Amino acid sequence: MINAGIVTVSYIIATILFILALGGLSNQETARRGNWYGIIGMAIALIATVLGVVTAQYTILLVALLIGGSIGLFAASRVQMTQMPELVAILHSLVGVAAVAVGYVNFMDPTHNLVGVELTIHDIETYLGILIGAVTFSGSVIAFGKLSGRITGNPLILPARHWLNLGLLIAAIWFGREFVLQSHAGGGMEPLIIMTVVALLFGIHMVMAIGGADMPVVVSMLNSYSGWAASATGFMLGNDLLIVTGALVGSSGAILSYIMCRAMNRKFLAVIAGGFGTGGGAAAKGGGEDQGEVVPIDPLETAELLANAKEVMIIPGYGMAVAQAQHTVFEITRTLREKGVNVRFGIHPVAGRMPGHMNVLLAEAKVPYDIVFEMDEINEDFPDVDVSVVIGANDIVNPSALTDPDSPIAGMPVLECWKGTTSIVLKRSMATGYAGVQNPLFFLDNTRMLFGDAKATLDEVLKNI
Ligand code: TAP
Repeated sequence: MINAGIVTVSYIIATILFILALGGLSNQETARRGNWYGIIGMAIALIATVLGVVTAQYTILLVALLIGGSIGLFAASRVQMTQMPELVAILHSLVGVAAVAVGYVNFMDPTHNLVGVELTIHDIETYLGILIGAVTFSGSVIAFGKLSGRITGNPLILPARHWLNLGLLIAAIWFGREFVLQSHAGGGMEPLIIMTVVALLFGIHMVMAIGGADMPVVVSMLNSYSGWAASATGFMLGNDLLIVTGALVGSSGAILSYIMCRAMNRKFLAVIAGGFGTGGGAAAKGGGEDQGEVVPIDPLETAELLANAKEVMIIPGYGMAVAQAQHTVFEITRTLREKGVNVRFGIHPVAGRMPGHMNVLLAEAKVPYDIVFEMDEINEDFPDVDVSVVIGANDIVNPSALTDPDSPIAGMPVLECWKGTTSIVLKRSMATGYAGVQNPLFFLDNTRMLFGDAKATLDEVLKNI
């Protein structure tokens, strides 16, 4: 056992490390360091809690840590990069279920002996913790189902769904009042259980109503909820570090949701209200409607075009991650740069399937950071670009987002590659992207389609440059 002073100091150090971790993760060059800060902070927090706060049942704790740690290690080492959002969603559900479990145990704890205002505060903490935890749990399980294609990505639009949500909210408030009143009289379990069921239904309904294209926002919103659930658990347990850490996760998740909403031109409340992004979600496939003829190109012609260009813009998307083509992309970039071609990368904020997805892959392939640009930084440069290479990207270069108000991605800012001289689009077929809509870019006069797996075709291109 260590004394309370050491625990407090450890908690302060861990908090500082968590803040440094968040700061580090905001930039590609410092992300690795940020990760280490987070890992060290969490290790300190865990050790200080086990040695300084836990007083009994060490064997159970050790067994639980071993089982949980092994499952986490196993899942994280096996997960494909493209399955990361699913893993994150299911991990959020665990935070939710933990908050619910702690809430019930806290409520049933016979040793707290609280009365009057203190009991009311304790009850409200417990109630809120279980409420947020249950919404996070069921919402995250549905998000996991949608992202992994086990549940359809289409939004479930029930008639009068907003009234249903309002009804569930009023029920949650009503049972909250009942719970506090009954708890003062020695009861309260019944309204607590009813509220848990209501919150679970609310979580299911909320995420079921959200379409495939809006799922990234939902995952980051659930990330935020899981933070607040952890924070509420911190209040219940009187653990300052959990309160602060939960608040950090809660607020950074909320900020990320806001940034993504802006990138997709969605209003946050409209996303939460559901019904948008009617595309097919992770399972979206099929050809969409044809809009004319496309002009194919082969790897040899592509290599010639690239070698003779002065300005090349590479636009990676989800397909580059699927094909694991980033290393070949790097080799092509290096070869072209050696020939004096100015190669840059244009990254859409929601390219791929998770925030920063493309940046992670490019960093892995050692593409220099100074030629990787955010959409806002380079979108105006396309008129000067000779060749844009769109690698497994679709929705993020879809002009109909700007021209068709009925499109599920209407209003989403996109990379305007069609303003350059030529766009070469690499994909395997005419299948739609995540939002399930056809892309008029493919049918433009200055677009060429390079069909095939991006890794295989780019290997051929590289050989011919
Ligand atoms: P998508 O619109 O999903 O398009 C990906 C394209 O890659 C598809 O058209 C597919 O066409 C092609 N592709 C797949 N495997 C390939 C392979 N092995 N080789 C070559 N091409 C391949 O991707 P995007 O443009 O990156 O847009 C991202 C979308 O995902 C947005 O709608 C966004 O809202 C959504 N989303 C984003 C996130 C975040 S936070 N980034 C999270 C979840 C969802 P073929 O099948 O014909 O090959």
